[in-house]
Amino acid sequence: MSDPRKLFVRTYGCQMNVYDSERMAAALAPEGYETVETPEDADLILLNTCHIREKAAEKVYSELGRLKPLREAKPDLKIGVAGCVAQAEGEEIRRRQPMVDFVVGPQTYHRLPKLVRDGGVDIDFPEEDKFDHLPKDKRAARAPAAFLTVQEGCDKLCAFCVVPYTRGAEVSRPAQRLVDEAKALADRGVREITLLGQNVNAYLGEGPDGDWTLARLVRELAKIEGLARIRYTTSHPNDMSEDLIAAHGEEPKLMPYLHLPVQSGSDRILKAMNRKHTRDEYFRLIERIRSARPDIAMSGDFIVGFPGETEADFEDTLDLCRQVRYAACYSFKYSPRPGTPAAGAADMVAPDVAQERLVRLQALLTEHQRDFQASMVGKRMDVLIEKAGREAGQMVGKSPWLQAVHLQADPSDVGRIVEVEITGAMPNSLAGRRVG
Ligand code: 5AD
Ligand code: SF4
Repeated sequence: MSDPRKLFVRTYGCQMNVYDSERMAAALAPEGYETVETPEDADLILLNTCHIREKAAEKVYSELGRLKPLREAKPDLKIGVAGCVAQAEGEEIRRRQPMVDFVVGPQTYHRLPKLVRDGGVDIDFPEEDKFDHLPKDKRAARAPAAFLTVQEGCDKLCAFCVVPYTRGAEVSRPAQRLVDEAKALADRGVREITLLGQNVNAYLGEGPDGDWTLARLVRELAKIEGLARIRYTTSHPNDMSEDLIAAHGEEPKLMPYLHLPVQSGSDRILKAMNRKHTRDEYFRLIERIRSARPDIAMSGDFIVGFPGETEADFEDTLDLCRQVRYAACYSFKYSPRPGTPAAGAADMVAPDVAQERLVRLQALLTEHQRDFQASMVGKRMDVLIEKAGREAGQMVGKSPWLQAVHLQADPSDVGRIVEVEITGAMPNSLAGRRVG
């Protein structure tokens, strides 16, 4: 056999891109590619890109600029652009950066081997399912937590969002295949699965006995022995169905943490964003979820400075946060995205106003996050041991609420769920000691 060829993948954006990067590496393994940790070592560099905000998209072009000397020093180095910028910009990428050999969208990465060989641009939304054409990931030992894409695309058409254009309309994968894949993951030692979808709670997949909802899928996956924890992300409030809320109360393997972005606390802005619900409806939804599962922690996303947002609208957002008290949040300044309904809006918020609002919102969200972290001290909880920590003898695990937990444990404990008493809280992690 010839020497293995070296693949370097850089991933931007969401967890689905992290998952896709793994699948792309798997698609290239039969071609003799193995992954390396630095671009300098690679024969093939793949940038798996994100188009969600302008800054994210521009990163691709600066990264390509940085790779130029590498390519000049090594003429047979191949460079490909994958993901959502690839989907949105296609041929334009090669116009701006001719050294790019190929451009591949998220729906065609099963055709990667051919693109790597021949170059070109492939940003189809093909008839065939890429997952049917990808080799199985055969690695024996893996991390105890894994992602599984169950749904892609979005039909919600929020006025700010590129996802319907980069990832297409909502498509759910067949339920039985997901059960089989989850079983295979569990057989290889995976204890925690995060079900991924751009609008995952709208999942409606063909099942052996009619269509399955996300709630049904979760309940069936929970029957897999060895699999101890199930999560899902990202969800739209309007797709939090009764059966899914009930599953949170009834299915102990479903973790008490829910990412449920609302984007704004102002009814006027929610309407302009085409979110299709009011702030009151969101409050009532959260009440129902919390009464099903009282210890559930919420996280969210916010956009400040959406066109037309006034100081009063923004204060409604702060007020919503004070009422919900999120455990964690992501917040962004509005970034007009080409092709989206809001992009041409005349009533743009001045950049310095948006910046000032972002700072205020983040200060409040950070305060709530700190309170949430602090509330863990003294608690006992199950922690899934995931990997070695920075210090000797230290391991890092994950709490039910998605927090990193540092504790003394042995590398052989990876994959174990142990009882831990929390002894300290940092803004982004916890410290604990094993008990029992
Ligand atoms: N500008 C700023 N933030 C955005 N998001 C999505 N589109 C935009 C945009 N055009 C944010 C939303 C979404 C998260 C993934 O990114 O908050 O939930
Ligand atoms: Fe970025 Fe959205 Fe694409 Fe994920 S799906 S990589 S968040 S644009």
